[in-house]
Amino acid sequence: MTRLIEPVRTAPVATRSGRLAGRIGWTFVLLAALAVVAYSAVPYFTASLHDLAGEEVGLAPTYAETSVFVQGALYVHIAGSATALVLGALQFWRGLRTRAPRVHRWIGRIYLTGVAVGGVGGLIIAPSSPAGYVGFFGFGALGVLWLASGWRAYRAIRRRDVPSHQAWMIRNYALTYAGVTLRVWLPLLLLAPLLLGQPWEFDSAFANAYAAVPFLCWLPNLVVAEWLIRRRGLPSYRLPVTRG
Ligand code: HEM
Repeated sequence: MTRLIEPVRTAPVATRSGRLAGRIGWTFVLLAALAVVAYSAVPYFTASLHDLAGEEVGLAPTYAETSVFVQGALYVHIAGSATALVLGALQFWRGLRTRAPRVHRWIGRIYLTGVAVGGVGGLIIAPSSPAGYVGFFGFGALGVLWLASGWRAYRAIRRRDVPSHQAWMIRNYALTYAGVTLRVWLPLLLLAPLLLGQPWEFDSAFANAYAAVPFLCWLPNLVVAEWLIRRRGLPSYRLPVTRG
């Protein structure tokens, strides 16, 4: 399959209601990112992994059993990814980009460092996932695409190609947002059998739900990212036209 980049199109002019919807959406994205960092990431820095495992916090019971190297990678992953999740949302605030471009550049550097550190950490811990091969391939692919799209965004801005930079950053942050969407999908999938009136038992419901999230947490995000990119007239992927 060949990949083609569409020529840059003129961005549609935003209406008043469009701008209001954009602001509401952005506020929601930022608040959800802050909530996930507070409830999922911060607890890992409040006690030892061993103690957290005793309290069944997140995936602490799984990682308390792994090597010190993998545990170190888990902490590095959480710190880098949580930093990227919060700072990345700020970067889409137009006021900051136009009124304080230097701040935007500095936040961008810290964001990409968070992506690099969080992505490498994520790749190291992926083979220990309780989801087995699905976790390894799902989180592994997410980690590779996260690093690659961050690199493309950085390269684009270094050559002053702002539309490509924006498009790659939308893709990259959509992948960062897997940290939020995973934690939305998981409870939904966990409770789905109850809503469907099926027999329910926590361990099997969790294993079933957790087998889906390593891919489900990021694939739909990329589709939404591509839609946003097209809507804004930024350079997007196109499937090739095949001539018979
Ligand atoms: C976008 C690329 C990301 C990749 C490749 C990735 C990868 C992973 C992997 C492989 C695990 C272990 C899961 C398992 O063992 O099944 C994990 C856990 C974790 N990740 Fe990420 N992650 C990403 C984004 C994020 C973000 C943005 C956050 C922000 C808060 C985050 C926070 C965490 C936390 C807190 C855990 C521990 C598990 C838990 O208690 O929920 N990750 N990540």
